[in-house]
Amino acid sequence: AAANIGVVGLAVMGSNLARNLASREGNTVAVYNRSREKTDQLVAEHPEAGFIPAFSYEEFAASLSKPRTAIIMVKAGRGTDAVIDELVKVFEPGDIIVDGGNAYFPDTIRREKAVRATGINFVGAGISGGEEGALNGPSIMPGGSDEAWITLGPILKSIAAVAEGEPCVTHVGHDGAGHFVKMVHNGIEYADMQLIAEAYDLIRRGTGKTPAEIADIFAEWNTGELESYLIEITAEVLRQVDAETGKPLVDVILDQAGAKGTGAWTVQTALALGVPVSGIAEATFARSLSSHPEQRAAASILPGPEEAFEVTDVDAFIEDVRQALFASKIIAYSQGFDEIRAGAAEYNWSIDLGAVSKIWREGCIIRAQFLNRIADAYAEQADLPVLAAAPYFADALTRGQASWRRVVVAATQAGIPSPAFSSSLAYYDGIRADRLPAALVQGQRDFFGAHTYKRIDKDGTFHTQWSGDRTEIEAVDTH
Ligand code: 6PG
Repeated sequence: AAANIGVVGLAVMGSNLARNLASREGNTVAVYNRSREKTDQLVAEHPEAGFIPAFSYEEFAASLSKPRTAIIMVKAGRGTDAVIDELVKVFEPGDIIVDGGNAYFPDTIRREKAVRATGINFVGAGISGGEEGALNGPSIMPGGSDEAWITLGPILKSIAAVAEGEPCVTHVGHDGAGHFVKMVHNGIEYADMQLIAEAYDLIRRGTGKTPAEIADIFAEWNTGELESYLIEITAEVLRQVDAETGKPLVDVILDQAGAKGTGAWTVQTALALGVPVSGIAEATFARSLSSHPEQRAAASILPGPEEAFEVTDVDAFIEDVRQALFASKIIAYSQGFDEIRAGAAEYNWSIDLGAVSKIWREGCIIRAQFLNRIADAYAEQADLPVLAAAPYFADALTRGQASWRRVVVAATQAGIPSPAFSSSLAYYDGIRADRLPAALVQGQRDFFGAHTYKRIDKDGTFHTQWSGDRTEIEAVDTH
Protein backbone atom coordinates (compact mmCIF):
# COMPACT_ATOMS: atom_id res chain seq x y z
CA ALA A 1 0.00 0.00 0.00
CA ALA A 2 2.22 2.76 -1.30
CA ALA A 3 -0.10 5.17 -3.09
CA ASN A 4 -2.04 7.93 -1.28
CA ILE A 5 -4.35 8.57 -4.21
CA GLY A 6 -5.67 6.58 -7.17
CA VAL A 7 -7.23 7.45 -10.51
CA VAL A 8 -9.73 5.21 -12.32
CA GLY A 9 -10.28 5.99 -16.00
CA LEU A 10 -7.24 7.00 -18.01
CA ALA A 11 -8.66 8.81 -21.03
CA VAL A 12 -7.16 12.28 -21.58
CA MET A 13 -8.75 13.98 -18.54
CA GLY A 14 -7.93 11.06 -16.22
CA SER A 15 -4.36 10.69 -17.49
CA ASN A 16 -3.71 14.38 -17.18
CA LEU A 17 -5.16 14.55 -13.68
CA ALA A 18 -3.07 11.53 -12.67
CA ARG A 19 0.08 13.20 -14.04
CA ASN A 20 -0.80 16.42 -12.23
CA LEU A 21 -1.24 14.50 -8.96
CA ALA A 22 2.02 12.63 -9.45
CA SER A 23 3.95 15.82 -10.09
CA ARG A 24 3.09 17.27 -6.67
CA GLU A 25 5.27 16.71 -3.63
CA GLY A 26 4.02 13.94 -1.38
CA ASN A 27 1.72 12.19 -3.82
CA THR A 28 2.10 8.66 -5.12
CA VAL A 29 -0.56 7.74 -7.63
CA ALA A 30 -2.14 4.37 -8.37
CA VAL A 31 -3.78 4.12 -11.80
CA TYR A 32 -6.40 1.77 -13.19
CA ASN A 33 -8.23 1.59 -16.50
CA ARG A 34 -10.78 -0.93 -17.76
CA SER A 35 -8.63 -1.80 -20.75
CA ARG A 36 -5.04 -2.62 -19.84
CA GLU A 37 -3.45 -0.89 -22.86
CA LYS A 38 -4.21 2.63 -21.63
CA THR A 39 -2.61 1.88 -18.27
CA ASP A 40 0.50 0.37 -19.89
CA GLN A 41 0.78 3.31 -22.26
CA LEU A 42 0.47 5.96 -19.54
CA VAL A 43 3.02 4.23 -17.31
CA ALA A 44 5.44 3.73 -20.21
CA GLU A 45 5.14 7.31 -21.48
CA HIS A 46 5.56 8.88 -18.05
CA PRO A 47 8.19 7.05 -16.05
CA GLU A 48 8.89 10.31 -14.18
CA ALA A 49 5.43 10.06 -12.58
CA GLY A 50 6.23 6.86 -10.67
CA PHE A 51 2.72 5.52 -11.20
CA ILE A 52 1.67 2.31 -9.51
CA PRO A 53 -0.34 0.48 -12.18
CA ALA A 54 -3.17 -1.84 -11.18
CA PHE A 55 -4.88 -4.34 -13.45
CA SER A 56 -7.80 -5.30 -11.26
CA TYR A 57 -9.89 -3.47 -8.69
CA GLU A 58 -8.42 -5.75 -5.99
CA GLU A 59 -4.90 -4.76 -6.98
CA PHE A 60 -5.93 -1.13 -7.13
CA ALA A 61 -7.38 -1.24 -3.60
CA ALA A 62 -4.32 -3.08 -2.29
CA SER A 63 -1.97 -0.43 -3.69
CA LEU A 64 -3.70 2.39 -1.79
CA SER A 65 -2.89 3.45 1.78
CA LYS A 66 -5.84 4.03 4.14
CA PRO A 67 -8.13 5.83 4.03
CA ARG A 68 -8.10 4.77 0.38
CA THR A 69 -8.86 7.67 -1.91
CA ALA A 70 -9.74 7.22 -5.58
CA ILE A 71 -10.86 9.71 -8.22
CA ILE A 72 -13.10 8.34 -10.96
CA MET A 73 -12.52 10.05 -14.30
CA VAL A 74 -14.93 8.33 -16.69
CA LYS A 75 -17.59 9.75 -18.97
CA ALA A 76 -20.56 10.77 -16.83
CA GLY A 77 -23.47 8.32 -16.83
CA ARG A 78 -23.89 4.57 -16.41
CA GLY A 79 -20.13 3.98 -16.55
CA THR A 80 -19.75 5.96 -13.34
CA ASP A 81 -22.25 3.69 -11.54
CA ALA A 82 -20.42 0.61 -12.79
CA VAL A 83 -17.06 1.85 -11.44
CA ILE A 84 -18.62 2.85 -8.11
CA ASP A 85 -20.10 -0.65 -7.73
CA GLU A 86 -16.67 -2.20 -8.26
CA LEU A 87 -14.88 0.17 -5.89
CA VAL A 88 -17.46 -0.35 -3.15
CA LYS A 89 -16.69 -4.10 -3.29
CA VAL A 90 -12.97 -3.62 -2.61
CA PHE A 91 -12.99 -0.48 -0.41
CA GLU A 92 -13.73 -0.28 3.32
CA PRO A 93 -15.63 2.11 5.60
CA GLY A 94 -13.80 5.42 5.87
CA ASP A 95 -12.37 5.16 2.34
CA ILE A 96 -13.21 7.86 -0.20
CA ILE A 97 -14.58 7.58 -3.72
CA VAL A 98 -14.49 10.80 -5.75
CA ASP A 99 -16.40 11.27 -9.00
CA GLY A 100 -14.55 13.91 -11.01
CA GLY A 101 -16.84 13.74 -14.05
CA ASN A 102 -19.53 16.15 -15.16
CA ALA A 103 -22.26 14.24 -13.28
CA TYR A 104 -25.83 15.50 -13.06
CA PHE A 105 -26.15 16.57 -9.41
CA PRO A 106 -29.29 14.49 -8.62
CA ASP A 107 -27.23 11.43 -9.63
CA THR A 108 -24.53 12.56 -7.23
CA ILE A 109 -27.09 12.96 -4.41
CA ARG A 110 -28.38 9.44 -5.14
CA ARG A 111 -24.88 7.91 -5.33
CA GLU A 112 -23.69 9.67 -2.18
CA LYS A 113 -26.64 8.28 -0.24
CA ALA A 114 -26.11 4.75 -1.53
CA VAL A 115 -22.36 4.73 -0.95
CA ARG A 116 -22.67 6.36 2.49
CA ALA A 117 -24.81 3.42 3.60
CA THR A 118 -21.69 1.22 3.21
CA GLY A 119 -19.63 3.54 5.42
CA ILE A 120 -17.55 4.66 2.46
CA ASN A 121 -17.44 8.37 1.62
CA PHE A 122 -18.61 9.52 -1.80
CA VAL A 123 -17.61 12.92 -3.13
CA GLY A 124 -18.95 14.44 -6.34
CA ALA A 125 -16.35 16.93 -7.50
CA GLY A 126 -16.77 19.28 -10.43
CA ILE A 127 -13.48 19.76 -12.24
CA SER A 128 -13.14 22.57 -14.75
CA GLY A 129 -10.36 23.61 -17.06
CA GLY A 130 -10.40 21.03 -19.80
CA GLU A 131 -7.39 18.86 -20.62
CA GLU A 132 -4.85 21.56 -20.00
CA GLY A 133 -6.41 22.45 -16.63
CA ALA A 134 -6.43 18.80 -15.53
CA LEU A 135 -2.70 18.66 -16.22
CA ASN A 136 -1.54 22.01 -14.88
CA GLY A 137 -4.17 23.06 -12.37
CA PRO A 138 -7.95 22.96 -12.65
CA SER A 139 -10.61 24.67 -10.60
CA ILE A 140 -12.18 22.00 -8.40
CA MET A 141 -15.66 22.04 -6.86
CA PRO A 142 -16.00 19.12 -4.41
CA GLY A 143 -19.14 18.24 -2.48
CA GLY A 144 -19.40 15.31 -0.04
CA SER A 145 -18.86 14.93 3.68
CA ASP A 146 -16.69 16.97 6.04
CA GLU A 147 -14.90 13.74 6.95
CA ALA A 148 -13.89 13.12 3.33
CA TRP A 149 -12.73 16.71 2.97
CA ILE A 150 -10.14 16.24 5.75
CA THR A 151 -8.23 13.71 3.63
CA LEU A 152 -9.19 15.03 0.24
CA GLY A 153 -8.68 18.74 0.87
CA PRO A 154 -4.86 18.72 0.97
CA ILE A 155 -4.65 16.44 -2.08
CA LEU A 156 -6.99 18.62 -4.16
CA LYS A 157 -5.27 21.79 -2.96
CA SER A 158 -1.97 20.32 -4.17
CA ILE A 159 -3.21 20.04 -7.77
CA ALA A 160 -5.62 22.96 -8.14
CA ALA A 161 -4.91 26.19 -9.98
CA VAL A 162 -3.75 29.06 -7.79
CA ALA A 163 -5.33 32.52 -7.76
CA GLU A 164 -3.53 35.26 -5.86
CA GLY A 165 -1.87 32.63 -3.67
CA GLU A 166 -5.08 30.73 -2.93
CA PRO A 167 -5.80 27.26 -4.36
CA CYS A 168 -8.89 27.16 -6.60
CA VAL A 169 -10.71 24.54 -4.55
CA THR A 170 -13.10 24.78 -1.65
CA HIS A 171 -15.46 22.32 0.04
CA VAL A 172 -18.57 23.64 -1.68
CA GLY A 173 -21.15 21.82 0.44
CA HIS A 174 -22.47 18.34 1.15
CA ASP A 175 -23.46 15.54 -1.27
CA GLY A 176 -24.33 17.01 -4.68
CA ALA A 177 -23.33 20.64 -3.96
CA GLY A 178 -20.07 20.40 -5.91
CA HIS A 179 -21.65 19.04 -9.06
CA PHE A 180 -24.50 21.54 -8.73
CA VAL A 181 -22.02 24.41 -8.67
CA LYS A 182 -20.07 22.90 -11.59
CA MET A 183 -23.34 22.65 -13.52
CA VAL A 184 -24.05 26.35 -12.98
CA HIS A 185 -20.43 27.15 -13.90
CA ASN A 186 -21.11 25.51 -17.25
CA GLY A 187 -24.41 27.38 -17.65
CA ILE A 188 -22.55 30.65 -17.10
CA GLU A 189 -19.91 29.40 -19.55
CA TYR A 190 -22.66 28.94 -22.18
CA ALA A 191 -23.95 32.49 -21.58
CA ASP A 192 -20.46 34.02 -21.67
CA MET A 193 -19.67 32.24 -24.95
CA GLN A 194 -22.96 33.24 -26.59
CA LEU A 195 -22.55 36.88 -25.52
CA ILE A 196 -19.06 36.99 -27.01
CA ALA A 197 -20.39 35.38 -30.19
CA GLU A 198 -23.17 37.98 -30.45
CA ALA A 199 -20.64 40.80 -29.97
CA TYR A 200 -18.50 39.36 -32.77
CA ASP A 201 -21.49 38.95 -35.09
CA LEU A 202 -22.72 42.52 -34.53
CA ILE A 203 -19.29 44.02 -35.13
CA ARG A 204 -18.71 41.92 -38.21
CA ARG A 205 -22.09 42.60 -39.80
CA GLY A 206 -22.21 46.21 -38.64
CA THR A 207 -18.73 47.29 -39.67
CA GLY A 208 -17.54 44.73 -42.21
CA LYS A 209 -14.35 44.14 -40.23
CA THR A 210 -12.57 40.85 -40.89
CA PRO A 211 -12.28 38.13 -38.25
CA ALA A 212 -8.58 39.00 -37.86
CA GLU A 213 -9.44 42.65 -37.26
CA ILE A 214 -12.09 41.63 -34.76
CA ALA A 215 -9.48 39.41 -33.08
CA ASP A 216 -7.47 42.58 -32.44
CA ILE A 217 -10.53 44.22 -30.88
CA PHE A 218 -11.02 41.26 -28.54
CA ALA A 219 -7.32 41.26 -27.67
CA GLU A 220 -7.68 44.93 -26.76
CA TRP A 221 -10.82 44.24 -24.69
CA ASN A 222 -8.86 41.56 -22.89
CA THR A 223 -6.69 44.25 -21.32
CA GLY A 224 -9.69 45.87 -19.57
CA GLU A 225 -12.68 44.95 -17.43
CA LEU A 226 -13.66 42.14 -19.84
CA GLU A 227 -10.32 40.36 -19.29
CA SER A 228 -11.02 36.62 -19.31
CA TYR A 229 -9.90 33.32 -20.73
CA LEU A 230 -12.92 33.13 -23.03
CA ILE A 231 -12.19 36.58 -24.55
CA GLU A 232 -8.54 35.59 -24.95
CA ILE A 233 -9.28 32.34 -26.79
CA THR A 234 -11.92 34.09 -28.92
CA ALA A 235 -9.17 36.30 -30.35
CA GLU A 236 -7.11 33.19 -31.09
CA VAL A 237 -9.98 31.43 -32.83
CA LEU A 238 -10.83 34.51 -34.92
CA ARG A 239 -7.22 34.94 -36.00
CA GLN A 240 -6.88 31.34 -37.18
CA VAL A 241 -6.62 30.84 -40.94
CA ASP A 242 -7.78 27.59 -42.53
CA ALA A 243 -4.79 25.84 -44.13
CA GLU A 244 -6.86 24.28 -46.88
CA THR A 245 -8.83 27.27 -48.16
CA GLY A 246 -6.85 30.22 -46.84
CA LYS A 247 -10.09 31.59 -45.38
CA PRO A 248 -10.62 32.55 -41.76
CA LEU A 249 -11.25 29.27 -39.94
CA VAL A 250 -14.44 30.69 -38.41
CA ASP A 251 -15.87 30.97 -41.94
CA VAL A 252 -15.37 27.31 -42.75
CA ILE A 253 -16.62 25.87 -39.46
CA LEU A 254 -20.22 24.64 -39.75
CA ASP A 255 -22.43 27.05 -37.80
CA GLN A 256 -24.18 24.45 -35.65
CA ALA A 257 -23.19 24.53 -31.99
CA GLY A 258 -23.07 21.29 -30.03
CA ALA A 259 -23.80 20.71 -26.36
CA LYS A 260 -23.29 17.84 -23.98
CA GLY A 261 -26.08 18.68 -21.56
CA THR A 262 -24.77 20.75 -18.67
CA GLY A 263 -26.29 23.98 -20.03
CA ALA A 264 -29.67 22.31 -20.43
CA TRP A 265 -29.44 20.92 -16.87
CA THR A 266 -28.72 24.40 -15.56
CA VAL A 267 -31.84 25.72 -17.27
CA GLN A 268 -34.07 22.78 -16.30
CA THR A 269 -32.95 23.08 -12.70
CA ALA A 270 -33.53 26.84 -12.73
CA LEU A 271 -37.05 26.33 -14.07
CA ALA A 272 -37.78 23.87 -11.27
CA LEU A 273 -36.35 26.29 -8.69
CA GLY A 274 -38.18 29.27 -10.18
CA VAL A 275 -34.97 31.19 -10.88
CA PRO A 276 -34.95 33.33 -14.04
CA VAL A 277 -31.63 32.43 -15.69
CA SER A 278 -32.80 33.93 -18.96
CA GLY A 279 -29.32 34.67 -20.35
CA ILE A 280 -28.17 31.09 -19.79
CA ALA A 281 -31.44 29.77 -21.23
CA GLU A 282 -31.14 31.91 -24.38
CA ALA A 283 -27.54 30.81 -24.83
CA THR A 284 -28.60 27.17 -24.58
CA PHE A 285 -31.52 27.70 -26.97
CA ALA A 286 -29.27 29.57 -29.41
CA ARG A 287 -27.19 26.39 -29.73
CA SER A 288 -30.37 24.37 -30.30
CA LEU A 289 -31.65 26.81 -32.92
CA SER A 290 -28.34 26.68 -34.78
CA SER A 291 -28.46 22.91 -34.93
CA HIS A 292 -31.67 22.52 -36.95
CA PRO A 293 -30.50 23.01 -40.54
CA GLU A 294 -33.79 21.80 -42.00
CA GLN A 295 -35.76 24.42 -40.08
CA ARG A 296 -33.24 27.12 -40.92
CA ALA A 297 -33.46 26.23 -44.61
CA ALA A 298 -37.27 26.34 -44.53
CA ALA A 299 -37.30 29.64 -42.62
CA SER A 300 -34.74 31.31 -44.87
CA ILE A 301 -37.63 32.59 -47.04
CA LEU A 302 -38.81 34.82 -44.18
CA PRO A 303 -37.99 38.49 -44.75
CA GLY A 304 -35.64 40.67 -42.74
CA PRO A 305 -35.67 44.45 -42.48
CA GLU A 306 -35.82 46.55 -45.66
CA GLU A 307 -32.84 48.78 -44.97
CA ALA A 308 -29.27 47.59 -44.87
CA PHE A 309 -27.42 47.71 -41.55
CA GLU A 310 -25.12 50.68 -41.59
CA VAL A 311 -22.95 51.82 -38.73
CA THR A 312 -21.84 55.40 -39.18
CA ASP A 313 -19.45 55.83 -36.26
CA VAL A 314 -17.53 52.56 -36.17
CA ASP A 315 -15.47 53.27 -33.04
CA ALA A 316 -18.51 54.41 -31.08
CA PHE A 317 -20.44 51.32 -32.16
CA ILE A 318 -17.62 49.00 -31.09
CA GLU A 319 -17.49 50.71 -27.70
CA ASP A 320 -21.27 50.31 -27.39
CA VAL A 321 -20.94 46.60 -28.13
CA ARG A 322 -18.20 46.30 -25.51
CA GLN A 323 -20.44 47.96 -22.93
CA ALA A 324 -23.39 45.77 -23.95
CA LEU A 325 -21.21 42.69 -23.57
CA PHE A 326 -20.04 43.69 -20.12
CA ALA A 327 -23.54 44.59 -18.93
CA SER A 328 -25.01 41.33 -20.25
CA LYS A 329 -22.17 39.39 -18.68
CA ILE A 330 -22.94 40.93 -15.29
CA ILE A 331 -26.55 39.78 -15.69
CA ALA A 332 -25.50 36.24 -16.65
CA TYR A 333 -23.30 35.90 -13.56
CA SER A 334 -25.94 37.49 -11.37
CA GLN A 335 -28.47 34.95 -12.62
CA GLY A 336 -26.05 32.05 -12.18
CA PHE A 337 -25.24 33.01 -8.58
CA ASP A 338 -28.97 33.40 -7.96
CA GLU A 339 -29.42 29.80 -9.05
CA ILE A 340 -26.68 28.62 -6.68
CA ARG A 341 -28.31 30.58 -3.84
CA ALA A 342 -31.70 29.01 -4.61
CA GLY A 343 -30.21 25.52 -5.02
CA ALA A 344 -28.44 25.80 -1.68
CA ALA A 345 -31.71 26.76 0.01
CA GLU A 346 -33.61 23.93 -1.68
CA TYR A 347 -31.06 21.20 -0.97
CA ASN A 348 -29.87 22.45 2.44
CA TRP A 349 -26.32 23.16 1.37
CA SER A 350 -24.43 25.92 3.05
CA ILE A 351 -22.60 27.38 0.07
CA ASP A 352 -20.31 30.37 0.45
CA LEU A 353 -20.95 32.29 -2.78
CA GLY A 354 -17.85 34.42 -2.27
CA ALA A 355 -15.71 31.28 -1.96
CA VAL A 356 -17.26 29.91 -5.17
CA SER A 357 -16.38 33.09 -7.06
CA LYS A 358 -12.82 32.87 -5.75
CA ILE A 359 -12.20 29.31 -6.95
CA TRP A 360 -13.37 30.38 -10.43
CA ARG A 361 -10.67 33.06 -10.72
CA GLU A 362 -8.16 30.60 -12.20
CA GLY A 363 -8.14 27.12 -13.71
CA CYS A 364 -11.69 26.99 -15.03
CA ILE A 365 -13.16 27.98 -18.39
CA ILE A 366 -14.86 31.14 -17.07
CA ARG A 367 -11.73 32.32 -15.25
CA ALA A 368 -11.42 36.08 -15.17
CA GLN A 369 -10.39 39.07 -13.07
CA PHE A 370 -14.10 39.86 -12.91
CA LEU A 371 -14.60 37.07 -10.35
CA ASN A 372 -12.66 39.16 -7.84
CA ARG A 373 -15.38 41.80 -8.05
CA ILE A 374 -18.00 39.12 -7.29
CA ALA A 375 -15.94 37.96 -4.31
CA ASP A 376 -15.77 41.59 -3.10
CA ALA A 377 -19.54 41.96 -3.42
CA TYR A 378 -20.23 38.88 -1.29
CA ALA A 379 -17.55 39.89 1.22
CA GLU A 380 -19.39 43.19 1.59
CA GLN A 381 -22.79 41.52 1.94
CA ALA A 382 -23.00 37.72 2.18
CA ASP A 383 -26.78 37.60 1.67
CA LEU A 384 -26.83 39.88 -1.34
CA PRO A 385 -30.29 39.50 -2.93
CA VAL A 386 -29.17 40.41 -6.47
CA LEU A 387 -25.50 40.44 -7.44
CA ALA A 388 -26.17 42.91 -10.27
CA ALA A 389 -27.34 45.48 -7.72
CA ALA A 390 -24.09 45.39 -5.70
CA PRO A 391 -22.22 48.73 -5.95
CA TYR A 392 -19.48 47.79 -8.46
CA PHE A 393 -21.95 46.11 -10.82
CA ALA A 394 -24.66 48.73 -10.37
CA ASP A 395 -22.05 51.34 -11.37
CA ALA A 396 -21.03 49.37 -14.45
CA LEU A 397 -24.68 48.91 -15.47
CA THR A 398 -25.37 52.59 -14.93
CA ARG A 399 -22.44 53.46 -17.18
CA GLY A 400 -23.27 50.83 -19.77
CA GLN A 401 -27.03 50.89 -20.06
CA ALA A 402 -27.34 53.55 -22.76
CA SER A 403 -24.84 51.68 -24.97
CA TRP A 404 -26.56 48.40 -24.21
CA ARG A 405 -29.93 49.79 -25.31
CA ARG A 406 -28.44 51.26 -28.50
CA VAL A 407 -26.91 47.91 -29.38
CA VAL A 408 -30.14 45.97 -28.79
CA VAL A 409 -32.10 48.54 -30.82
CA ALA A 410 -29.54 48.40 -33.65
CA ALA A 411 -29.52 44.60 -33.65
CA THR A 412 -33.31 44.49 -33.69
CA GLN A 413 -33.58 47.00 -36.53
CA ALA A 414 -30.86 45.23 -38.48
CA GLY A 415 -32.47 41.82 -38.00
CA ILE A 416 -29.37 40.39 -36.32
CA PRO A 417 -30.31 37.91 -33.61
CA SER A 418 -28.93 38.89 -30.22
CA PRO A 419 -30.96 36.68 -27.87
CA ALA A 420 -28.53 36.83 -24.97
CA PHE A 421 -27.93 40.60 -25.20
CA SER A 422 -31.64 41.39 -25.48
CA SER A 423 -32.92 38.90 -22.90
CA SER A 424 -30.34 40.17 -20.42
CA LEU A 425 -31.54 43.71 -20.99
CA ALA A 426 -35.15 42.57 -20.53
CA TYR A 427 -34.16 40.93 -17.24
CA TYR A 428 -32.42 44.12 -16.16
CA ASP A 429 -35.50 46.21 -16.91
CA GLY A 430 -37.74 43.63 -15.26
CA ILE A 431 -35.84 43.20 -12.03
CA ARG A 432 -35.42 46.97 -11.53
CA ALA A 433 -39.05 47.83 -12.38
CA ASP A 434 -41.22 49.55 -9.85
CA ARG A 435 -44.40 47.81 -11.05
CA LEU A 436 -44.64 44.81 -13.37
CA PRO A 437 -47.58 43.70 -15.50
CA ALA A 438 -47.55 40.58 -13.33
CA ALA A 439 -50.52 42.31 -11.67
CA LEU A 440 -52.51 41.85 -14.87
CA VAL A 441 -51.44 38.21 -15.12
CA GLN A 442 -52.77 37.69 -11.61
CA GLY A 443 -56.05 39.31 -12.70
CA GLN A 444 -56.28 36.99 -15.68
CA ARG A 445 -55.53 33.94 -13.53
CA ASP A 446 -58.23 34.98 -11.11
CA PHE A 447 -60.70 35.51 -13.99
CA PHE A 448 -60.46 32.12 -15.61
CA GLY A 449 -59.46 29.93 -12.71
CA ALA A 450 -60.29 31.75 -9.47
CA HIS A 451 -56.61 31.56 -8.64
CA THR A 452 -56.95 34.61 -6.35
CA TYR A 453 -54.66 37.59 -5.86
CA LYS A 454 -53.18 39.72 -3.11
CA ARG A 455 -53.68 43.47 -2.81
CA ILE A 456 -51.08 46.17 -2.36
CA ASP A 457 -53.10 47.94 0.31
CA LYS A 458 -54.19 45.22 2.75
CA ASP A 459 -53.35 41.68 3.89
CA GLY A 460 -55.33 38.68 2.80
CA THR A 461 -56.18 36.82 -0.37
CA PHE A 462 -58.92 37.97 -2.70
CA HIS A 463 -61.09 36.85 -5.58
CA THR A 464 -63.35 38.89 -7.81
CA GLN A 465 -66.59 37.09 -8.67
CA TRP A 466 -66.05 37.51 -12.40
CA SER A 467 -68.99 35.41 -13.55
CA GLY A 468 -71.31 36.94 -10.94
CA ASP A 469 -71.73 40.53 -9.91
CA ARG A 470 -67.97 41.18 -9.96
CA THR A 471 -67.71 42.12 -6.34
CA GLU A 472 -64.56 41.14 -4.49
CA ILE A 473 -64.59 38.57 -1.74
CA GLU A 474 -61.92 37.41 0.65
CA ALA A 475 -60.80 33.99 -0.52
CA VAL A 476 -58.82 31.00 0.58
CA ASP A 477 -55.31 31.26 -0.82
CA THR A 478 -54.90 28.75 -3.66
CA HIS A 479 -51.91 30.58 -5.28
C1 6PG B 1 -14.95 22.81 -18.14
C2 6PG B 1 -15.89 22.63 -19.31
C3 6PG B 1 -16.03 21.17 -19.62
C4 6PG B 1 -16.57 20.88 -20.98
C5 6PG B 1 -18.00 21.26 -21.14
C6 6PG B 1 -18.35 21.55 -22.57
O1 6PG B 1 -15.42 23.41 -17.20
O2 6PG B 1 -13.81 22.38 -18.23
O3 6PG B 1 -17.12 23.15 -18.99
O4 6PG B 1 -16.76 20.60 -18.59
O5 6PG B 1 -15.78 21.48 -21.94
O6 6PG B 1 -18.74 20.19 -20.68
O7 6PG B 1 -19.70 21.49 -22.66
P1 6PG B 1 -20.48 21.42 -24.01
O8 6PG B 1 -19.91 20.31 -24.81
O9 6PG B 1 -21.88 21.18 -23.59
O10 6PG B 1 -20.26 22.75 -24.67
